[in-house]
Amino acid sequence: MSSKFSRYGILFVISAPSGAGKTTLVDALRETAEFVYSVSCTTRPPRTGEIDGEDYRFLSEQDFLAQIGAGEFLEHAKVHDHHYGTPLQPVLANLKDGRDVLIDIDTQGAASIRNCDDPLIRSALADVFIMPPDLDELRRRLTKRGTETPEQIELRLVTASREMQLWRKYRYTIISRTVDYPSSMRKNSKLRAEKTGGRKVVRLRSSAKTIVLGVTGSIAAYKSAELASVLVKQGHQLFVVMSDDATQFITPLTLQTLSKNPVMTTFFDEKENWRPGHIELADRANLLLIAPATAHIIAELAHGLAHHPLAAIALATRAPILIAPAMNGKMWMHPATVDNVEKLKSRGVEFIGPEEGMLACGYEGIGRLWKVEDIAFRTEFLLARQENLIA
Ligand SMILES: Cc1cc2nc3c(=O)[nH]c(=O)nc-3n(C[C@H](O)[C@H](O)[C@H](O)COP(=O)(O)O)c2cc1C
Repeated sequence: MSSKFSRYGILFVISAPSGAGKTTLVDALRETAEFVYSVSCTTRPPRTGEIDGEDYRFLSEQDFLAQIGAGEFLEHAKVHDHHYGTPLQPVLANLKDGRDVLIDIDTQGAASIRNCDDPLIRSALADVFIMPPDLDELRRRLTKRGTETPEQIELRLVTASREMQLWRKYRYTIISRTVDYPSSMRKNSKLRAEKTGGRKVVRLRSSAKTIVLGVTGSIAAYKSAELASVLVKQGHQLFVVMSDDATQFITPLTLQTLSKNPVMTTFFDEKENWRPGHIELADRANLLLIAPATAHIIAELAHGLAHHPLAAIALATRAPILIAPAMNGKMWMHPATVDNVEKLKSRGVEFIGPEEGMLACGYEGIGRLWKVEDIAFRTEFLLARQENLIA
């Protein structure tokens, strides 16, 4: 297993009614080199100026049908006698390599992608609907474009109003107030381009949420202090739950001070409430983040054990779980750990890391805790994904 698998890409699927400004947005995003643009296949003949492999991959009907038969499309549809489809393999390969993929698609295609069974597609998906402010504004924009007759514009508006009903199906909706997307998005909204670890990423800002941070007995436990501090600075309510062994590496007092909340280390200091504190935290959490996660806690979670508060919270919560492992490379590569990780992934648990580098145990290899600011960013992304409305 290589560190390339450590951070999967995000699959941005963008839909909008005609005239909402999607093309402007997608063209601007394509220029930034932040995304790999997924080129669709089609059986329709190329129009003047269209380039094979850039605008579309132009296929014969026979080749297209053969690819459908071989299950090679993430989604496909027939529109006005022509087939259109998104090839699955390049999308999966880029996501596995940690590259964010951009798919520009109609609402029907987005629905097919949402229904895809592939666990990687499901966990990477960030589907975005670009919503025009209202139909009058859309009419004004379409009229200004001057490419359609008034009748065609009215027809487009009927379709648009039908499509606009579908915004709730998307995780994110961006209200298009101006057509000047790139600058307005950066200035006015919660989408912000930022440098993180030398790599430019789009930062999604979620509103304040409750995060339960689990810390376990790894030498990297000291990094949980920095992580706690970043998450609190981002405005979240943070509750730290430590395994007994974690307290050998970092004191609860440090994490209590940084999180500004009591730290839970055992079931038996829960004396104040009729309701067990670990269940209360499990219910309250918008996200359970375990960083660093030992081989031991990963095994406990995979097997549904609940011998201490952190493991019990992982069983009781219905919030998404993000795990940042840290361990000796041989422990990470051991078939038992590989099985446990796969089991958890198949249940929808997300992993970030580990990365390669010099390990505390003296070995060089995979097993280091992933960069703290990237863990914080992924946390932010998973929290923001729970909200429908970004802008
Ligand atoms: C100095 C030291 C460093 C350790 N570092 C790690 C580590 O990075 N990852 C890991 O999985 N286990 C590590 N261990 C072993 C765990 O602490 C041990 O498996 C423990 O039972 C984990 O319990 P917990 O998951 O409940 O915290 C380390 C042990 C020691 C003594």
